[in-house]
Amino acid sequence: MTKKILVLPGDGIGPEIVAEATKLLEVLRREHGLVAEFEEAPVGGAGYDAAGHPLPEDTLRLAKAADAVLLGAVGGPRYDTLDWELRPERGLLGLRSELNLFANLRPAILYPQLASASALKPEIVGGLDIMILRELTGGAYFGKPRGIRTRDDGVREGFNTIIYDEGEIERIVRSGFEIAMKRGRRLCSVDKANVLEVSQLWREVAIRVSEDFPDVELSHMYVDNAAMQLVRAPKQFDVIVTENMFGDILSDAAAMLTGSIGMLPSASLDADGKGMYEPIHGSAPDIAGQGVANPLATLLSVSMMLRYSLDEGALADRVDAAVSRVLDQGLRTPDIWTEGSSKVGTTAMGDAVVAALGE
Ligand code: NAD
Ligand code: IPM
Ligand code: MN
Repeated sequence: MTKKILVLPGDGIGPEIVAEATKLLEVLRREHGLVAEFEEAPVGGAGYDAAGHPLPEDTLRLAKAADAVLLGAVGGPRYDTLDWELRPERGLLGLRSELNLFANLRPAILYPQLASASALKPEIVGGLDIMILRELTGGAYFGKPRGIRTRDDGVREGFNTIIYDEGEIERIVRSGFEIAMKRGRRLCSVDKANVLEVSQLWREVAIRVSEDFPDVELSHMYVDNAAMQLVRAPKQFDVIVTENMFGDILSDAAAMLTGSIGMLPSASLDADGKGMYEPIHGSAPDIAGQGVANPLATLLSVSMMLRYSLDEGALADRVDAAVSRVLDQGLRTPDIWTEGSSKVGTTAMGDAVVAALGE
């Protein structure tokens, strides 16, 4: 059956990197047997420009009807002064919650060819392959009450609520165990249980769920220590499971272990495996329009889409291998460039991956 893929380029470098992804998908369709059709729609600032809202009704309807969604990035200084509900980021958060994409997989893998681009020494980071599983539809991002209010004494205060019920904790932790079962069978649950009640409940539930997974070794770590351990000895981790905001922060830190934030893809999945796929980075306004953004995180997100939503594991392997081959050829966008390699732009990198597909 023909799979429906909705493509949401978004803002900033979003359209530049997504153009490389659609080029790749088109070639997979024409030459490698992918049976899919694509449709494009605006989201984020582009949604606001086109329809007055960061998540236009039509875009949401198409996303719900699609088998998978590919997103570039949203946001930019042009939109930072809009009313809160109209900001591009609200469009992305709306998609995540409307589609129930509670499980966000953010793999951090160091390609051996990029060892010298990592912020860490090769002996500390060589062979790195960790999975950060970030809860994506709860916590402070969605908890109520939230807002900015003026107190009786005239002082304004801002407030958010980190809230998780047992069911929300259980389903993400269970996903963590299931992923760990297919990998190194070690799951580290990251929390702040020494300070936050919500983390205390998180830890209790994690321990309870662990009884169903006797073959997985469960450990717990406070988030501040986890941030430190990620840059001290990242290979101690196999799978990390954590709440929404901690996962946001830790995955950006983990990205630099791999050479660049331009290398980290992600999959956001619901309970049935439907997914949205996007690089973990943002719209990079500082380099937008220059043709220098690294498209590899987006191309690797296509690979995750093929694997997790389109049941095309062999094609996913082919994309992963093509990326590796292009790195073997010494091609580097500026963010991963090191002495002795060839500096290329976004389009040349995308072309090279497509060319390496057939090899
Ligand atoms: P950012 O990830 O956009 O950029 C951080 C730094 O990384 C910048 O120096 C940027 O040039 C660099 N970078 C990011 N992606 C790159 C790539 N593919 N290739 C090369 N370099 C890359 O984060 P920010 O600057 O904090 O945020 C900019 C905007 O993006 C904000 O509006 C923010 O809300 C939004 N944002 C969106 C998403 C998303 O859509 N998923 C994620 C993060 C931030
Ligand atoms: C990400 C981004 C988003 C987040 C923002 C843009 C809403 O930083 O996808 O990591 O915080 O989740
Ligand atoms: Mn982020």
